Amino acid sequence: MRLTGPRQRLVFRGQRIQSAEFGWSNHTLDRPATAAAVACDVVAQPLFRAPVGTRDLLPPESGRRRRLVCLFADLAERAGFGLLESPIFEDHGVFQRLGEANEVVTKELFEFFDKGDPPRRLALRPELTAGVCRAFAEHRPTPPWKVWYSGPQFRYERPQAGRYRQFEQVGVETLGTDDAHADIEIIALGLRFYETLGLKRVRLLLNSLGDADSRPRYDAALTSYLQSRRDDLSEQSRLTLERNPLRVLDSKREQDQPVIAQAPVMADFLSGDSAEHFATVREGLDSLGVGYEVSPRLVRGLDYYTRTTFEYAADALDTAQNAVGGGGRYDGLVEELGGPPTPGVGFALGVDRILLACDAEDAFAAPPVPVRVFVVDTAGGRSASLLCDRLRRAGLGVDRAFDNRSMKAQMKRADRCGAEVAVIVGPDERAAGAATVRDMRSGGGQRQVPETEVAEAVTEILARAPR
Ligand code: HAM
Repeated sequence: MRLTGPRQRLVFRGQRIQSAEFGWSNHTLDRPATAAAVACDVVAQPLFRAPVGTRDLLPPESGRRRRLVCLFADLAERAGFGLLESPIFEDHGVFQRLGEANEVVTKELFEFFDKGDPPRRLALRPELTAGVCRAFAEHRPTPPWKVWYSGPQFRYERPQAGRYRQFEQVGVETLGTDDAHADIEIIALGLRFYETLGLKRVRLLLNSLGDADSRPRYDAALTSYLQSRRDDLSEQSRLTLERNPLRVLDSKREQDQPVIAQAPVMADFLSGDSAEHFATVREGLDSLGVGYEVSPRLVRGLDYYTRTTFEYAADALDTAQNAVGGGGRYDGLVEELGGPPTPGVGFALGVDRILLACDAEDAFAAPPVPVRVFVVDTAGGRSASLLCDRLRRAGLGVDRAFDNRSMKAQMKRADRCGAEVAVIVGPDERAAGAATVRDMRSGGGQRQVPETEVAEAVTEILARAPR
């Protein structure tokens, strides 16, 4: 149905609507309406939305997120980690090595083929540790190699609060040492970051998954126990048992909990080396005053872990999605990706969930908008262009209005954006090559100054009560 005029009466039910301005819409009507009303509705119902599981992050929330990443960068760089920027997509094989039986690989990868001849099988990264190990194997930097990263990750998961198909992580990895003190540095760094944000209710859960000596013995004992309790498990966990018995311990289903509670624990199977490593990690955390809970059934979702594993749980969030970060050791991953034998340890923190936890704890507010000056120009707009440029070059945060709005409308905008100083140019000021500089704070006065002295006058007012 084509909309032809605002007053035309239209009758269509359950039909797609086309308008010259808005194109095709999936919008349908269940009652007669005028073109104007439909056009309004079409505007309210956009043709496209962000894909399921993704979100637009608008200001000021986007500014808050950027500030969080900056704080993380600062913390990581002060601890000797350098920034690694790796591609958002990688060869599918990089992730395949996270484990054939792993759900992140089997169900959650966003995969595609490129236009090469023959086409290459690629995947959007579901996490960054594998990409970091691929980069290590490719560039062979001198170990220990300490890197931090941030950016979007992609997993085809069922979206819900705190779980998205595109989400953001910040993280650190240390490659090339199996010193337990590297684990301690990393684990403590994560907790210090939550503290920096003002989060108070984050718990550290700690476990060791053993090494190549201990793991097969544990896997055998666990599998045989779970097989013996197979009938008590949920249907989903019975399927998981076939593919990856360890992951059954990760089940949050009510029905599985009694079985999980009695399952053998890794601690009883640790080799001498792994037990000693784990003890050193615990002692190190104790000596830093870092609190933790040993969680013997913490297995984590990715399959590359050996020895230390940990998770940060935010008690302010719903338990289903309360992991605000996690990590551990992955001593075999670089080798699996074709590099030299290289142990590694790291964590990734989920930015989206951290911000939800901050909301729940009333912590880490959005940073103030840096605009402190607003230029009001009712004489055509050219003076505003000139003054904005001049003031910005003087290092000030400045905004302006467009469309030659009225003085009242522009002052309203100045007020709404929280400006502390208004620089006003009307026809009189324009003719005199001057501007009125007004202190917007209560009791503040105003004075006219030559255009060339506006920056000094503004700086003087702002210096009286710095934000
Ligand atoms: P992960 O536990 O899969 O570990 O993810 C780390 C964090 O990312 C989670 O604790 C959570 O906060 C966040 N996260 C994961 N999936 C989602 C999602 N669908 N929506 C929102 N947030 C999510 C890793 O990714 C490992 N690479 C960590 C690591 C680094 N291990 C060693 N080094």
